[in-house]
Amino acid sequence: MDRSIYCGLVRSSHIDSEVTLTGWVDRRRDHGGVIFLDLRDREGIVQVVFDSDGAEFFKLADSVRSEFVLKVTGKVRARSEATVNPGMSTGEIEVYGIQLEILNTAQTPPFQLDDFVTVGEDVRLKYRYMDLRRTEMQNSLRFRSKITSSIRNYLVEDGFLDIETPIMTRATPEGARDYLIPSRTHPGQFFAMPQSPQLFKQMLMVAGFDRYYQIAKCFRDEDLRADRQPEFTQIDIEASFIEEEDIMSTTETMMTKLFAEHMDVHFEAFPRMTYGEAMTRYGSDKPDLRIPLELVDIKDLLKDIDFKVFAGPANDPACRVTALKVPGGAIISRKQIDDYTKFVSIYGAKGLAWIKVNALESGIEGLQSPIIKFLGEEVTLAVMQRLDVSDGDIVFFGADTSAIVSEALGALRCKVGADLDLFTCEWAPMWVIDFPMFDTTESGGLTPLHHPFTAPSCSIEDLKSDPANALSRAYDMVLNGVELGGGSIRIHDQHMQAVVFDILGIDAEEQREKFGFLLDALKFGAPPHGGVAFGLDRLIMLMVGADSIRDVMAFPKTQSAACLLTDAPSNVDTAQLRDLNIRLRKKED
Ligand code: AMO
Ligand code: AMP
Repeated sequence: MDRSIYCGLVRSSHIDSEVTLTGWVDRRRDHGGVIFLDLRDREGIVQVVFDSDGAEFFKLADSVRSEFVLKVTGKVRARSEATVNPGMSTGEIEVYGIQLEILNTAQTPPFQLDDFVTVGEDVRLKYRYMDLRRTEMQNSLRFRSKITSSIRNYLVEDGFLDIETPIMTRATPEGARDYLIPSRTHPGQFFAMPQSPQLFKQMLMVAGFDRYYQIAKCFRDEDLRADRQPEFTQIDIEASFIEEEDIMSTTETMMTKLFAEHMDVHFEAFPRMTYGEAMTRYGSDKPDLRIPLELVDIKDLLKDIDFKVFAGPANDPACRVTALKVPGGAIISRKQIDDYTKFVSIYGAKGLAWIKVNALESGIEGLQSPIIKFLGEEVTLAVMQRLDVSDGDIVFFGADTSAIVSEALGALRCKVGADLDLFTCEWAPMWVIDFPMFDTTESGGLTPLHHPFTAPSCSIEDLKSDPANALSRAYDMVLNGVELGGGSIRIHDQHMQAVVFDILGIDAEEQREKFGFLLDALKFGAPPHGGVAFGLDRLIMLMVGADSIRDVMAFPKTQSAACLLTDAPSNVDTAQLRDLNIRLRKKED
């Protein structure tokens, strides 16, 4: 080992001892006759001083530039009182350089590490190894390593076995497109990369492993956002002979411990809310409970008015007419309301009606709004009463299909809450339970709300007779409006599984072809089982307060699913394609 200690770990206790450091030049300052080098390694930065007394090394020190790699031997000494830097962990000392070796030179960096914010993320991703030298990135990845290590310790202590499952496999339906791998030995056939280890972990339960976990890579070809990557990591868990309660309490304890140990944040028992209640009150199945705003349905008050925009949806069972009261929101400007109107249009809302409450004691005169004239005095006041408004409030309205209103006003609730900084706490973990089994597609068919292996809360007969209203034994953990993880008790009965496939419109032949191995396994003594998976990247993102999961992954992909560092995906040789029996078509526009 070249080094005797990390740069960032030198302290006053080392004063007078000789140290050998290795690292990168963060900054070089020439104070005429004295050269200061800030030397950086993964633990931090220490100040090294060369003066002209050591002529040979002084000249060499003068020649170094940012990001050169050095080995320095020197003596630790106290800084003079005037130069102590309390903002640095090594700020009480400096290292007086005795020897210097340049281990490698470096070209001028593509960006200065301290002004990365001014370069685009594409530059940071292209030179990711430079970007990762920044303290913030070093800290995030180091923190991530500590968290995964704690998770492993916790789960191992709780009797979970770490078992790896294949990356080259068959499609696992989790609702995204698959990444495919062409097979050379089976021309024309493809492996799929797993969207999750779902079916393998169920097979492990059939095999009797009883408690499994894996920190597993998952692959999903879907539209990317700040909290989604095509390749991401799950904390994947499955257990046998358990109920919802067991999985929820085990993992709630795990999260509570992680936050206590690593963040000094102490959670109470997580509140639980049904999917139905979450949608009604927050317009979302992952409500951000830090924001004290709620949606209030007013459909019944608007059935008989002339204003079609509201009366239409008010009389349509598939629609919702809902209000969002924002206390103190009357200060929101017209321009801002226009911006919010644009914002909700992303979710399909055709407009955003509003009423400002200026002076309640003046009745209708004290309200300001473009829609009062359409609603009439009586209805307007009834709405205001339902919402229990006060002076200074604003109320926003949504009227459309239930899905559009929930999504639009649910998102607006979070946006306004953040804009007006209405947060009541820093952390709001919760569980959402009692999800429906199925979602209705645009064509009227049913799709699984989670995945098709989720057990219903009802009998086979009840499921068959009214699948659209059946509830599942699924649960999601939500933190600050982010879906951290989800899971369920699984179907372990082959007949029930076949019924679910039937309801999903997967016929017997397709069941056999796609999931034959699962249906077979369920015939050979499958125990009752269930599990959950958490998005590790999302968890770390929330813990370190990053804006995007890209900031807590060493080598993430861009929004268009490319790796700018390696320039992947890339073209391949014709010979390679020939081996794979693949001929490319001209790209269609
Ligand atoms: P699900 O599809 O809900 O469940 O995924 C579990 C968790 O994984 C995270 N996640 C993602 N993180 C980053 N980028 C993505 N593209 C992405 N997609 C999902 C989320 C999510 O809550 N097999 C089931 C789990 C189970 O039933 O046990 C599954 O994969 O945080
Ligand atoms: P209009 O009559 O279309 O000008 O709409 C009058 C007001 O109602 C405007 O403030 C619109 O933004 C709002 N509005 C229109 N459609 C909707 C809708 N579907 N939901 C909520 N508000 C709407």
